[in-house]
Amino acid sequence: MSKGTYYITTPIYYPSGNMHIGHTYTTVAADAMTRFKRLTGWDTYFLTGTDEHGQKIERKAAEAGVTPQAYVDAIVANTQELWKLMEIEYDDFIRTTQERHQKIVQQIFRRFYEQGDIYKSAYEGLYCTPCESFWTPTQVVEKDGVKCCPDCGRPVEAMQEESYFFRMSKYQDWLIDYIETHPDFIQPAKRANEMLNNFLRPGLQDLCVSRTSFKWGVPVDFDDKHVVYVWIDALSNYITALGYGTDHDELFRKYWPADVHLVGKEIVRFHTIYWPIMLHALGLPLPKQVFAHGWLLFGNDKMSKSKGNVVYPQPIVARYGADALRYYLLREMPFGADGNYTNEAFLTRMNADLANDLGNLVSRTVAMIEKYFGGDVPAWDEAVEEPVGNDLRAHCAALPALVEEQMNKLQYSQALAEIWKVIGECNKYIDQTQPWILGRDPEKKGLLGNVLRTLAECVRFVAVLIGPFMPATPARIFEQLGLQDEGLKTWDSLDRFGRLPAGIHVCKGEALFPRIDVKKELEALNPAPEAPAKKEEKPAKAKKEEKKHEEPEFPEVIAFDDFAKCKMQVGRVLNCEKVEKSNKLLRFRLSFGADGERTILSGIAKYYQPETLIGRQVVAVTNLAPRKIAGEESQGMILSALDASGNLRLMSVMEGVEDGAIVG
Ligand code: ME8
Repeated sequence: MSKGTYYITTPIYYPSGNMHIGHTYTTVAADAMTRFKRLTGWDTYFLTGTDEHGQKIERKAAEAGVTPQAYVDAIVANTQELWKLMEIEYDDFIRTTQERHQKIVQQIFRRFYEQGDIYKSAYEGLYCTPCESFWTPTQVVEKDGVKCCPDCGRPVEAMQEESYFFRMSKYQDWLIDYIETHPDFIQPAKRANEMLNNFLRPGLQDLCVSRTSFKWGVPVDFDDKHVVYVWIDALSNYITALGYGTDHDELFRKYWPADVHLVGKEIVRFHTIYWPIMLHALGLPLPKQVFAHGWLLFGNDKMSKSKGNVVYPQPIVARYGADALRYYLLREMPFGADGNYTNEAFLTRMNADLANDLGNLVSRTVAMIEKYFGGDVPAWDEAVEEPVGNDLRAHCAALPALVEEQMNKLQYSQALAEIWKVIGECNKYIDQTQPWILGRDPEKKGLLGNVLRTLAECVRFVAVLIGPFMPATPARIFEQLGLQDEGLKTWDSLDRFGRLPAGIHVCKGEALFPRIDVKKELEALNPAPEAPAKKEEKPAKAKKEEKKHEEPEFPEVIAFDDFAKCKMQVGRVLNCEKVEKSNKLLRFRLSFGADGERTILSGIAKYYQPETLIGRQVVAVTNLAPRKIAGEESQGMILSALDASGNLRLMSVMEGVEDGAIVG
């Protein structure tokens, strides 16, 4: 029997560029909470998605020479791949360009208009295009006499526009009262005070909810000059995804109101002022909680797509696995506070917490059971007193409740700290009891058995409890423990310390998290920018391959320097289409991550349907002089191989390589 329903959401992200570690942070947190709630017996629903409309995406797509839809499709494909890589299991992924969403947004907008919550007027203000926000003159900041956006620091433009407005002021007193009487609604609590003091008590401005200056949005169905401005469109996702407003709204009836919306602190205002007012105007209950977490910083700056100062998870996961990164993100900073991401801090923590504390505990426990008991987990010997471990056993038995208490407050870091306290105590217990000395004395066999059994049972508890945070690791631990009974891998099986059956056979496996050389790994993660120097490292192999090549038009050997001049990079296909007037050429628009985008023509139209290539990664030479082909400039060359039947097959890379990565 489930304890009840639990509905959790992340913001829906703008697919204006690929998602980075900041988006990963929120999504991993939502996933870990979902897994934890499911483990503890709740019927969970986890929603994430993408917020695909707006002027910024319209402009970016135009710059890329593709339709906005093609532009976002490629990024959404990359996002979904990333969530898979991070072991994120959502129940639904909503895209605001989906019909199921757009139809209901139109319906909601019209209802607001018909009931007098929305009226038409004109908007004048200072507009920041990258942030899609209007600012008042008192909100903008001045830099060298230029008025700039207080969020991203870029210049704002004065704009006037006919718009629809939502009468927020009408609901202000109701909302103040609601927030004051529902202390859990906005967390951490200091965010509630910010909302009350900075926005609500001074008086709410009516909110501009439509635009005429761009087209890429949900059309207002009774006034087709206007598209619905991004926040009504975006926020509604939390209910449209559940089928609200349709005749198949079972999920909505089951899961609404949401238990928690996880958001970054910069969008608290939208979620705790505009969204509650919208819901109230629709006659719907409010989400039980909006939790604002802090930012991952780069130096002192928020990492963000528009600033380009971002870290992508793929190369980290490719080297160390998703669990290590998930652990770091959830452990390093208290949920709610800001923190820096650095590779060095990540690697150091990985060594300390995962390789040393957890990894050693598991490997020492298993190794000692092998050595002293032939691999069979010993039974508890009632005849032997083992007082040293009393505290540890009591602490471990209490651990599930301690973890749950922290998780109910969304304190992931504290929850993990509780687990690691027990891991630390276990390691201390090994040092105190010195099993290697007990093992020398046959009379101490019973005592030794009780010590090792205590450790093995602690390891079982730890394996169950880390599952929500690090979903791939428990199975590896259970395998080493030789534990097959699924019933002993559950939350309920932690109701009593000592359920681990005697006689199961441990099996030493690979180190869970091998110790790493931080300095070397740092070099691997932050490679020196001079790509040619890197290629120098493997001349032997490169030369061998060159020699094997028997195409007559190639010279027998080339100087290494000649090879090193060629800059090859991984590019992601943002768009791909046939070049008119040519039956050979495809026009690719490719993203090279931080190195920007370019257009390349390639003579492979005979071999591929262009739309099937969108979102895929290819390899291209990017420092070739631009060439005119069929009257159009091609800015590089995409590599492909000739198969045995004479067809060209595109070259690609295995998973986990970021766009723009150097090939060599
Ligand atoms: O705001 N540190 O989308 P967005 C921590 N579409 N979290 C970060 C982060 C960082 N450096 N950078 C991004 C939008 N995030 C709107 C939301 S919701 C109805 C509409 C995470 O692509 C964090 O959750 O700018 C933040 O709130 C969100 O990504 C912003 O994503």
